[in-house]
Amino acid sequence: MDKILVHGGSKLSGSVTISGSKNSALPILAATLLTREECVIHRVPDLSDIHYMLQILASLGAEVERASGTVTVRADAVKTVAPYEIVRKMRASVCVLGPLLGREKEATVSLPGGCVIGDRPIDLHLKGFEALGAQHRIDAGNVKVFASELRGGTMNLRGKLGPTVLGTDNVMMAAVLAEGTTVIESAAAEPEVVDLANFLIAMGAKIEGAGTRRIIIEGVKELHGAEHSVIPDRIEAGTFLVAGAIAGTEVTLRRVNPEHVVAVTDKLVEAGYRIESQRDRMTIHGNGDPKALQLMTEPFPGFPTDMQAQFCALLSRTSGNSTITETIFPQRFMHVSELKRMGANIQLEGATAIIAGVERLSGAPVMASDLRASAALVLAGLQAEGVTEINRVYHIDRGYELIDEKLNALGAHIERVKA
Ligand code: EPZ
Repeated sequence: MDKILVHGGSKLSGSVTISGSKNSALPILAATLLTREECVIHRVPDLSDIHYMLQILASLGAEVERASGTVTVRADAVKTVAPYEIVRKMRASVCVLGPLLGREKEATVSLPGGCVIGDRPIDLHLKGFEALGAQHRIDAGNVKVFASELRGGTMNLRGKLGPTVLGTDNVMMAAVLAEGTTVIESAAAEPEVVDLANFLIAMGAKIEGAGTRRIIIEGVKELHGAEHSVIPDRIEAGTFLVAGAIAGTEVTLRRVNPEHVVAVTDKLVEAGYRIESQRDRMTIHGNGDPKALQLMTEPFPGFPTDMQAQFCALLSRTSGNSTITETIFPQRFMHVSELKRMGANIQLEGATAIIAGVERLSGAPVMASDLRASAALVLAGLQAEGVTEINRVYHIDRGYELIDEKLNALGAHIERVKA
């Protein structure tokens, strides 16, 4: 397994181009199953999670071509059972259920296991499908959803921990071909949900309210092919803003949507960092004496859970006592034990990390556990004395396109060691 060696202490400056959003591209690629016609998707990031999704589409019978950032899909005839050996690698594969149910009135996917950030149930997805007239059966680790016909329905998709992003995506992708009107209450409002809705509308779907808590869908008979460019990855953007805060003199992000990262930039400005934003670029200036923060993760437009680990790394060396409360994945603190190995002073009390900023972090061998925790360890390595060796770096390659190369281009000193 490859590993990454981060040599701490470099100052970062210059500009970096943000890739297309992983969490937008995944459901949009699944949505290409909704039509027999050709779909062309631009700005698809080159990530292992995307590779798995393309494998799943191909295994379902779609013709899939990739030419650098553009993916062409033609799902002329499709099977309805997603292959376990691929699905087990990526729980987001669950988002093929909706389009297959919408088009073929049945779909079978192996149940997504849990993962290190916590349990990953799909009860809300199934509740939404039931409201459209579908039934489901779970056997031998697979979930099969099926319906004689799909009829529009009203449902509330809020769970005990808030709205569901992929649940909203899945139900939307089934409802666009259901007969009649569907109303999704307590829908997720993430920009990636809006991007999916815009792609579905380009395919001929009738959707209103994407980006709000109430989405209204008028079913249509069929959808046609479409061309679409994926929005910039707001979590990659947030990660590079934190890199600029931690080690920057001045770092500029290109091809970013500032409106998608307001909750993150508000917190960086509150800590004392200066950020300039224009239409599709942002610049962050390093700050010698940042202030401690109290923050809590929330559904969009609140502070994103996918930025929680990165802020733990930032606040580890911010003087004073900071707290981060995780309300979406309460167990999402695998990075804390690794940051403590580097000298961070973090105590966990339930779903709250209490961080007492320390003067210095020291490089150490650490273990990546999930996508965003890995990014946090790279960020911690940038500000540590000595070398931080990050093992199991495949986690980071799932969600960040060439992060070591992009950081080195800004002045970091990061080596990737082939195992
Ligand atoms: C999406 O996951 C993202 N993944 C996650 O990003 C992100 O952390 C998450 O949304 C929250 O923003 C993709 O888009 C591929 P949820 P998703 O359904 O949709 C509970 C990353 O790092 N829940 O919004 O799977 C669930 O347990 C990844 O890029 C139910 O109870 O998350 C969680 O506590 C990690 N029942 C909360 O809701 C359900 O049926 C939010 O989960 C579904 C979810």
